[in-house]
Amino acid sequence: MLIWDKRKDAPMKLAPVLVLAALSLAACTQQPEIPTGRADFTALCAGCHGDGGKGDGEMAALLDKKPANLTTLSKRNGGAFPGTRVMAQIWGYAKPGGRVMPEFGPLLDSEVVPYDGGDGILTPTPIRLVQLEQYLRTIQE
Ligand code: HEC
Repeated sequence: MLIWDKRKDAPMKLAPVLVLAALSLAACTQQPEIPTGRADFTALCAGCHGDGGKGDGEMAALLDKKPANLTTLSKRNGGAFPGTRVMAQIWGYAKPGGRVMPEFGPLLDSEVVPYDGGDGILTPTPIRLVQLEQYLRTIQE
């Protein structure tokens, strides 16, 4: 009789354990939270380019090359925001030699979304890179 009772109880005792296991499994399969473009800019770029993107971050004075003013990207490109070039610079596809800015490709690697660089062709592009591109658009003069 005692053995029977224990058996009957077993599923009840196991229930919280199963719930915990299910929860931790769910946590593992959940997508990592994706920071906004603004948050990524503040965390990764503002140190050199400045909070407002004008190239006047705290580290600017210590660098061999002055960080670019990112509020004049459109202005310096005949009024059109050079989205693809900007993303290439951030990711790290740039001409070798003399590059002061770090490559952010590995850091920004994330779920891909279709990105249209202006030629109507949709290219799968990591969402954090696209969000940074979109954030930079909002700070143009
Ligand atoms: C260690 C300092 C540093 C950090 C951090 C940094 N940059 Fe730069 N950035 C530079 C410098 C210096 C240049 C000028 C080109 C060069 O030498 O690499 C530059 C150039 C650029 C350019 C090209 C501008 C142009 O006129 O064509 C873009 C776009 C840019 N950075 C965006 C970013 C973004 C977005 C981030 C954050 C993800 C970032 N940078 C982080 C230093 C930095």
